[in-house]
Amino acid sequence: MILPGLDPDAVARAARHLAEGALVAFPTETVYGLGARADFDSAVGLIFNAKGRPSDHPLIVHVADAAAAQRFAASWPADTAQRLAQAFWPGPLTLIVARRPEVGAAAAGGQPSIGLRCPAHPVAQALLQAAQGQGVWGVAAPSANRFGRISPTTAAHVATEFDEDLWVLDGGPCAVGIESTIIDCTRPQPVLLRPGVLLRAQIEAVLEQTLGEPGADTPRASGTLAAHYAPRAPLRLMGGEALSTALQVLGASPLKLAVYAHSVKRVPSGVLLRCMPTDAGAAAKELFAVLRELDDRAVQLIWVETPPPGPEWDGVRDRLQRAAAAG
Ligand code: TXA
Ligand code: MG
Repeated sequence: MILPGLDPDAVARAARHLAEGALVAFPTETVYGLGARADFDSAVGLIFNAKGRPSDHPLIVHVADAAAAQRFAASWPADTAQRLAQAFWPGPLTLIVARRPEVGAAAAGGQPSIGLRCPAHPVAQALLQAAQGQGVWGVAAPSANRFGRISPTTAAHVATEFDEDLWVLDGGPCAVGIESTIIDCTRPQPVLLRPGVLLRAQIEAVLEQTLGEPGADTPRASGTLAAHYAPRAPLRLMGGEALSTALQVLGASPLKLAVYAHSVKRVPSGVLLRCMPTDAGAAAKELFAVLRELDDRAVQLIWVETPPPGPEWDGVRDRLQRAAAAG
């Protein structure tokens, strides 16, 4: 059931639904989330069931502000979490901090840490504030897709993934389009766990220190699995020249082929071409919708041109590399 996210009555009903322990999908500026109150382990269990996601994979808990975040955090380090929240919240940034042991165990997948994010989308903000009015301080929400599949960036995408009776607040297409940047603040040197549109350099500038690399001890997390964000069709990443050559030697392809590229302008007849925007932000915004569209058109093979090398492409490159690893 799709509800109008800009209607205050719909938001109030959705907040009550959440407070009762039910699921509500809602828009954020990154992707749509599948939400449940984070303080009810049984409600959070519904998320793992609906997604088909292993219950030891930690979820991100969404909060209205940094004060609400501290209800879940056992510590809130001034030189990392506090600085980053002040600089980038509300926004597409998730902070991993030590968890208060008495709250959010299921949401955290049993980890002693917890991921917290204050989203900027006005519908997410309205929902989180209305939920606070119902005594709900945090809403656990992974991306509202089935496990391993493409994250949704419209309400319609969410509706096609789950049962008709799931409540989905519609807030239009997501402006960012790929999931939040994740920073682990539980270590002496903070670590970038997942690239997003907030760049490493922007974060390092605020921290006044360099970010570390994830190590073997990084908690198991589906957003960081090699094979993730995958369309049904196998996806291959290729440099511009390799892609042009492959298209030149392609005879009549027995498979329905799609190309998503920024430098290729012509493809043989029968091949579907989608042009990747040359602006990284625009590419991030449309990426998951394009992959979904290719799935919907029953494409059997997807050739994608490697994005340009700049750091502003890190998030898009990461999602495409994971999609390619799945095939
Ligand atoms: O943009 C986003 O972050 C979206 C929207 C809905 O806010 N949410 C999202 O959630 O991407 P999800 O569940 O698909 O990604 C959660 C990821 C995990 O896979 C893991 O990488 C990381 O967040 N994570 C969460 N809690 C963690 C923890 N305690 N320790 C380490 N990583 C954690
Ligand atoms: Mg996800």
